Amino acid sequence: MKISFAKATVPTEGALVVGVLEDRVLTPTAADIDARTQGLIARAMAASRFEGKRDQTLLLLAPAGLELARLLLIGLGKAADIDAKVAQSFGGGAVAQLQGAGDQVVAIAADAIAGAPIGAADFAANAALGARLRSYRFDKYRTREKKEEKPSVKKLSVLLSDVTAAKQAYQPLDAVADGVFLTRDLASEPANVIYPESLAAKAQTLSELGVEVEVLSEKQMRKLGMGALLAVGQGSEKDSQMVVMQWKGAGTDEAPVAFIGKGVTFDSGGISIKPAAGMEEMKTDMGGAAVVIGLMKALALRKARVNAVGIVGLVENMPSGNAQRPGDVVTSASGQTIEVINTDAEGRLVLADALWYAQDRFKPRAMVDLATLTGAIVISLGDYYAGLFANNDDLAERLLGAGAKVSEPLWRMPLDDQYDKQIKSDIADMKNTGGREAGSITAAMFLKRFVKDTPWAHLDIAGVTWSKKDLAVTPKGATAFGVRLLDRLVADHYEQK
Ligand code: BES
Ligand code: MN
Ligand code: ZN
Repeated sequence: MKISFAKATVPTEGALVVGVLEDRVLTPTAADIDARTQGLIARAMAASRFEGKRDQTLLLLAPAGLELARLLLIGLGKAADIDAKVAQSFGGGAVAQLQGAGDQVVAIAADAIAGAPIGAADFAANAALGARLRSYRFDKYRTREKKEEKPSVKKLSVLLSDVTAAKQAYQPLDAVADGVFLTRDLASEPANVIYPESLAAKAQTLSELGVEVEVLSEKQMRKLGMGALLAVGQGSEKDSQMVVMQWKGAGTDEAPVAFIGKGVTFDSGGISIKPAAGMEEMKTDMGGAAVVIGLMKALALRKARVNAVGIVGLVENMPSGNAQRPGDVVTSASGQTIEVINTDAEGRLVLADALWYAQDRFKPRAMVDLATLTGAIVISLGDYYAGLFANNDDLAERLLGAGAKVSEPLWRMPLDDQYDKQIKSDIADMKNTGGREAGSITAAMFLKRFVKDTPWAHLDIAGVTWSKKDLAVTPKGATAFGVRLLDRLVADHYEQK
């Protein structure tokens, strides 16, 4: 689907999408069309339950007096509440309704709306972003799909008067969408295609955009003492990898902000093997790493004025004659020893060494890790909020604010020392599970033992990385939850103005 911006005129083919405010108040284009068609829109609304409430839709076929195949009304709610998120779900809603309808050409009217806190150019740019994000589809393995099962929309134009301003506003948003699409592609790929080396190779392609990429081999990681990460990968035929990505957009002397991702390319559980039902979902256990890679792409594409480091620990967790065993004791890069009670609590072992390496080598201003870490966070928060754990209130507030702005909401969870006793071991410095109670918190407490005084936050994204249903700007499947959130965090707090 190709997206463009164009001067507002009533199109003569395909579909047109217009906004309607709450209580059936027409936006300028809707009013114009209503006037040209002897009140078609007013009559259609009167004959339906459509009131212009946010995300309501009403589709009119072959509207009399127009050459269009379809006229789609989408509710925008109250003018005073129209912000970037409303604009995005307006664009996303348009694509969701029309992509299977058969039209190849779609136009979206992005009028200036009196009384709205967002200007016309930003509204148009965000509508385009929502449309693009919602149009995502991972269909490379569907080789026998019929034409009528494929999305029909080829060209989408967003109509407004100040085309230049909208194009300018859209540029950085398009960069973020590129990052989101990379993340979704990586998380959608099966584990026979994406494994540590192939994922590292994908990350390496970011060097074309000016990102410095290094890949650490098992040998190099062994030298660095990363016994926790390496233990997870030792049962796999695939070699473990760590990828370090640096985007230097702010000059040399500024400490970077660091993003660390759990990249378990497949989590079978290891010797503590998972039940068969649903195990295929564990191809997405590299979701945190995919977010970090997509984020680095977005920052580079929009030339963000920030120094950012992305580090991903890539391993495959498999049972084999060489796999680690429950009861094994491993030594992490920090020197701390860990008793592995359950080989399925592997993400924290990977992050222990990745977090330690990030803080030791880069002395970051702040450090955020993302991980599909615990089933317990799915029980706590379901598929809407991701869990936020932080050792620093300012960083926590910044993340909560960024998440609210982009509809990737976070819920802060506790990280009190009280919970630390659950991971005391009789034989080593700690054990890798804290029992059933407060499972997400004890996982975070484990990570905390590998963080010194760097401001740090951990996002447990196990519940939000994959969606079983369509969302406003996200078709079901890989969500890339975290890319837009962390891009916003950087833009609002770590980027030079
Ligand atoms: N990758 C899983 C967590 C997960 C569960 C992600 C569901 C996405 C959906 C993680 O490695 C894991 O297996 N965690 C265990 C920890 C337990 C053994 C302490 C869990 O949550 O059951
Ligand atoms: Mn696991
Ligand atoms: Zn896992």
